[in-house]
Amino acid sequence: MPEDRSKVLQSWGESGHYWEKYGPTIRGMFEPVAVALMRAVGASANSRVLDVAAGIGEPSLTIARQLPSATVWCTDPAASMIEAAKKEASRAKLSNVQFAQCLADALPFDDEYFDGVVSRFGIMFFPDPEAGVREMLRALKEGGRVAAAVWCAPEANPFHFVISDALAKYIPPVPAGPDDPTAFRFAPPGKLAAIFERAGARDVSENVLRFTIEAQKTPEEFWQMRAEMSDANREKLARLTAGQRQNLQRDVLEVLPQFSSGGMMRFPAEVLIVRGTR
Ligand SMILES: C[S@@+](CC[C@H](N)C(=O)[O-])C[C@H]1O[C@@H](n2cnc3c(N)ncnc32)[C@H](O)[C@@H]1O
Repeated sequence: MPEDRSKVLQSWGESGHYWEKYGPTIRGMFEPVAVALMRAVGASANSRVLDVAAGIGEPSLTIARQLPSATVWCTDPAASMIEAAKKEASRAKLSNVQFAQCLADALPFDDEYFDGVVSRFGIMFFPDPEAGVREMLRALKEGGRVAAAVWCAPEANPFHFVISDALAKYIPPVPAGPDDPTAFRFAPPGKLAAIFERAGARDVSENVLRFTIEAQKTPEEFWQMRAEMSDANREKLARLTAGQRQNLQRDVLEVLPQFSSGGMMRFPAEVLIVRGTR
């Protein structure tokens, strides 16, 4: 396995524990994106739906809950993520979800098996996104749809920039290359749509989903969650002295209250939904 790919997968494997810890909050925060993807592929009562890079099981579990007679395959290469997804499916008594541990560019499914394929916040981390989309199209029935959600520009997403701006004061950010596996790799409009087209999708379109990220957390709890959820944040925090960490927390907690009211954190958010047809 190439070194960059195994590094990406190792970091997601390590994040699995924290994503499981904050599972209910993560599911709630991004549910509007799960619902938008479900609609973008036209999933309905008896559909067979594939979720690629599902992490702790989203959008798989949301779709399985909303469409009890659909069958959903939840896939991710990180064992810790899949284990967390299985636990939640069993806790929620969802019997219409199946699981597979696999990479996007080697899906263990027959050709033309699924009615729809979804992927939320995953494709930016693939070493070869075009190969991933080609593989999703291969697994789709003729006329089936694939839809992926990726973050729009960081400036439109205070959920991200409140933390990254504060961190930048202590650790100067290294500018990411356009194809580095970061959260904003597909923020430029048209970039992911062009990959869908090159992979062979028809009727490719993209639209911006504007929604509010809501989490029942105080600013302190929210900061704690954001510090733990992302491997990049964990790695940067580990490089700070205790004093710097305290100052950083003070800086973050000066800004976060403007997004807090009535015990809830609320952030305006923008995500691009790209879809295509086989
Ligand atoms: C930000 S998480 C998104 C998880 C979930 N879809 C969600 O929205 O909550 C990104 C996921 O992409 C997965 N991933 C990274 N590289 C991948 C690859 N090459 N193929 C498939 N999944 C990959 C990681 O294991 C991780 O679970």
